[in-house]
Amino acid sequence: MYRTHTCGQLRLTDAGTAVTLAGWVQTVRKFGSITFVDLRDRYGITQLLFNENLNEQLDKQPLGREFVLQANGIVHERSNKNVNIPTGEIEILVSEFKILNKSAVPPFTIQDDTDGGDDLRMKYRYLDLRRNAVKRNLELRYAVNRAARNYLHEKGFIDIETPFLIKSTPEGARDFVVPSRMNPGQFYALPQSPQTFKQLLMISGYDRYYQVVKCFRDEDLRADRQPEFTQIDCEMAFVEQEDILNMFEGMIKSIFKQVKEIDYSEIVERMTWEDAMWTYGNDKPDIRFGMKIGNLKIPSTIFLNKQEVLKASPLGKGASGFPVFDNAETVLAIAVPGCADYTRKQTDELTEWVKRPQIGMQGLVFIKYNADGSVKSSVDKFFNEQQLKQITATCEGKPGDLILVLAGREEKTRKAISELRLLMGQRLGLRKDTEFKLLWVLDFPLFEYSEDDNRWVARHHPFTSPKPEQIDVMINNNPVIKDAADYLNHPYSNIKANAYDMVLNGNEIGGGSIRIFQRELQEKMFAALGMDEEEQQQKFGFLLGAFEYGAPPHGGIAFGFDRLCAILGGSESIRDFIAFPKNNSGRDVMLDAPGPIDQKQFDELQIKLDLK
Ligand code: AMO
Repeated sequence: MYRTHTCGQLRLTDAGTAVTLAGWVQTVRKFGSITFVDLRDRYGITQLLFNENLNEQLDKQPLGREFVLQANGIVHERSNKNVNIPTGEIEILVSEFKILNKSAVPPFTIQDDTDGGDDLRMKYRYLDLRRNAVKRNLELRYAVNRAARNYLHEKGFIDIETPFLIKSTPEGARDFVVPSRMNPGQFYALPQSPQTFKQLLMISGYDRYYQVVKCFRDEDLRADRQPEFTQIDCEMAFVEQEDILNMFEGMIKSIFKQVKEIDYSEIVERMTWEDAMWTYGNDKPDIRFGMKIGNLKIPSTIFLNKQEVLKASPLGKGASGFPVFDNAETVLAIAVPGCADYTRKQTDELTEWVKRPQIGMQGLVFIKYNADGSVKSSVDKFFNEQQLKQITATCEGKPGDLILVLAGREEKTRKAISELRLLMGQRLGLRKDTEFKLLWVLDFPLFEYSEDDNRWVARHHPFTSPKPEQIDVMINNNPVIKDAADYLNHPYSNIKANAYDMVLNGNEIGGGSIRIFQRELQEKMFAALGMDEEEQQQKFGFLLGAFEYGAPPHGGIAFGFDRLCAILGGSESIRDFIAFPKNNSGRDVMLDAPGPIDQKQFDELQIKLDLK
């Protein structure tokens, strides 16, 4: 037997017990004739005490960091107790030990605050995984996995696996492809999601499906994106949007409860996509704090039915005399609470921040709404006090607030003010990672305009249904965009989808939709996306065919499992929650993959490499 107990198990009540422990040597400390060793395993650390009668053996077989050690001994009360660890009241008086395996000197310290940089830790990920911080993340991941499965099982969902070697499923990214040896010149695609399979399962009658499943997307990577990531993928038949929202906010609340012991009893807020864009400048707003965006000018864009906001815009459509505002497509403001006393240095720093290439604005206008009610701004030359107060009112500024105003092209400015809002929220400590705020974003546009191809692309994916009352708009209008500059006036730009995203603390953690389930409407959708009949048949003939055999109404959602874990664990980066992640260039630096393959493999595949 290698061990009787784990390194996290023994307590003072075990004093006097003969035990055998096995684990890794964390530290070796020699004090005169005695030696202390911290022995570590997955469960904790226990102190071993080697006294002088083992010195001879220790001299012959010296211990080093990360050696695998087995030790027999008796549990003793420690004279010098460590209150910081659960086993801190005891130590093992070692009678015998055996080195089960030696270790090379690890390239970084196996501690919470390791000295290893990112690349080194990824190269030796198997050592990095020994560290407590990473271990806790993987344990959290498992807890979230179990919690989701418990909930879904209780609700009658069944876990059904779907294949990885498939044909393309469009989710907006590029496919990873796999050549087929048995079908030379032909390729499988790895699934970007199991989307079409779960819809087929609905047609087969498995009306509550789920899967914790790998998805593969060849896209640009960021902190919250990996080329292979995991979804909690779900689908239900005979449901409307409301059923899905209820079922899955239930799931997330249940995960909160099971994993974090958080009772999320509040009603999950709901917001239309349009309101999210108006009020927060993006479609995944962090609603842990306010700082809502004020619109100072009537924009000439997509947000057409916000007449009440437009009427309130102090600059209206007219000229203010301030060229930066007058020449801008849009002018947007936020009120940063309690920052009216910002110094010149602080406002200069913010100006530099918005001018960084990632944000790309020309400059920043600020208005100090002083605590005594007076206003002072960087544009005093152009606006009188009353006008400045009007501007301040659009973003609900109060005495003591600093009003920040950006002007420029609509899309860029909205994005910039949204980033600025997040920055200020962060600086003011309004984005605590111990506070969780869920939000449903609803009524997304069905289509997006692709400038590159001058055609419509599906904003979610092509299987998403339009709002029932807008199906006619889709069917009765020609999708062709004659005047690219005027695409916003095409009736398609106003069609909303039966689609929803779940947002947690400003991160999109899930997204789904009610699906199209009639062949004719699906064909119409494919056609709207520029697919002729032949292409439809070649790519999605199987689905169109299946729709002819009694497809039930259905809908679903998929959650980004890695993202959910990262947020629950208080981290921005999903990599910390994946055992063997890839770096930002999509490489596994431990395996050194991707890499070349043998000529023999090319020959078997009948492929000749001819890199451009
Ligand atoms: P969608 O593409 O919105 O929907 O993906 C669902 C969720 O998966 C997460 N996610 C990612 N996580 C890590 N790395 C990535 N590269 C990545 N891409 C997406 C996000 C996202 O909300 N088939 C549809 C779902 C449906 O309609 O039911 C789909 O895949 O958290």
